[in-house]
This record gives sequence, C-alpha cells and structure tokens, in this order.
Amino acid sequence: MSKKMYDAKEHWEDVWTRKKSNEVSWYQEYPKTSIELILSINSDKDASIIDVGGGDSNLVDKLLDLDFKNITVLDISAKALKRSKERLGKNAMAISWINCDIREFDSEKRYYVWHDRALLHFLTDEQDMQKYVEMIRKHVNDEGYVIISSFSTRGPMMCSGLDTRQHSEESLKKLFFNGFEHVKSFEEEHVTPHGIGQIFTWNVFRKTK
Ligand SMILES: C[S@@+](CC[C@H](N)C(=O)[O-])C[C@H]1O[C@@H](n2cnc3c(N)ncnc32)[C@H](O)[C@@H]1O
Repeated sequence: MSKKMYDAKEHWEDVWTRKKSNEVSWYQEYPKTSIELILSINSDKDASIIDVGGGDSNLVDKLLDLDFKNITVLDISAKALKRSKERLGKNAMAISWINCDIREFDSEKRYYVWHDRALLHFLTDEQDMQKYVEMIRKHVNDEGYVIISSFSTRGPMMCSGLDTRQHSEESLKKLFFNGFEHVKSFEEEHVTPHGIGQIFTWNVFRKTK
C-alpha cells in the first residue's frame, strides 16, 4: 500500500473491526516464546513490562496468570485494546492500557521489559525505525531488556495488506548498536491459523548503563 494512502490508525482500526482474533495471521493461543523469554530474564513479579503493538494478544492474560503485577499494553487500535479488556473482564483493571501510535509515544514511566512481537516490521521507514530505537532507549531502565520479534529475511514481505520490513540478527544488531548489548537471537516459524509458515527473527537486547 502506498504511503500516501496509508493512515496507520484507520488501517488498524479497520483490521480489528473486520477480523476475529483467531482469524488474524499472527494469532497465537499461547504466546510460548514470549513467555519463555520473559521468564528467562528472571525479572521479579513487580517488574514493569510493556507489550507494544500488543493488539488483543493473550500475552497479557498469561503474564497475569504468572502473577506479574506491572503490565502495560500499548496499541494504535482502540478496538484491539477493547477486545483485550473485554476478554480479561475485571482483571483488565490491573493493566495500564495506552492507545497511541508508537511513533508518538512519550511517558515518564520506565520499563524493565519492552516486548514487541510483530510491530517493528510495520515501521518500514528508516527514520521511523531509528526514532523507535531512540524511544526504546529513553523508556527502558538501565539494564532492562528489549524483546523484539519481527519477520525475518526468510519471512513475508507483506502482512495485513501492508508492506513489511524484514529483519535479521545482523540488521537488528546494527539498529540497536548504540546503548544496547546483544543477548540472543534465533529464528522461529509461526504457523498462521490458515496453516501458512512465517519465519520470525526473535532478538533480545539489554540496555547498557
Ligand atoms: C501483527 S499485530 C501483532 C499483535 C500482537 N503483538 C501479537 O503478537 O498478537 C501488530 C499490532 O501492532 C499494532 N500497530 C501497528 N502499527 C502500530 C503503531 N504505529 N503504533 C502502535 N501500534 C501499532 C496493530 O494495531 C496490531 O495490533
């Protein structure tokens, strides 16, 4: 889709209005890798965790089940957040919800874990990517962690009608070279609800002091 025609907010509200949760290609009943990586960081249950571009992912439910107490979910789509809140019922009150475009996010709060599954690859513009990394640097605690999962160089070039940017361990190391140390990277196949395999690159960085 051309840049001129593309209004991100309008686009994502439309997606989340038309599609059921388990119809979107990125659907996961249990976000196994995200949970394993967050647990591997060994953070205490009060650690602040933000899921950016969280959509209506079940990650927040599973983090609550694990007794994490300081969780924020951010998404450009109010509709996606509403769905998550409805699914969680009264437990939704325990979560901080932020409805904004990540490119405009600014907060006094600092996070120990920054989790992004399948948002970064929609920031195809070089400047947007650079600004995103600067913004992460500002909002993550020293020695806090960044978990980024994006389409890999062997993954799709489009999603949800939008062009995507493909990433690799090397491209992400370059993007996060200033102020972060690389912890680990690996590729993993996600199988969509329609049975299509998509290769993601998972990456963990730690913010240096
Ligand atoms: C592919 S979905 C992934 C959802 C979720 N992370 C998951 O793994 O199930 C991408 C999400 O990012 C949100 N999104 C896209 N562009 C965004 C932006 N610029 N700022 C904030 N959220 C955005 C969309 O509304 C959507 O919920």
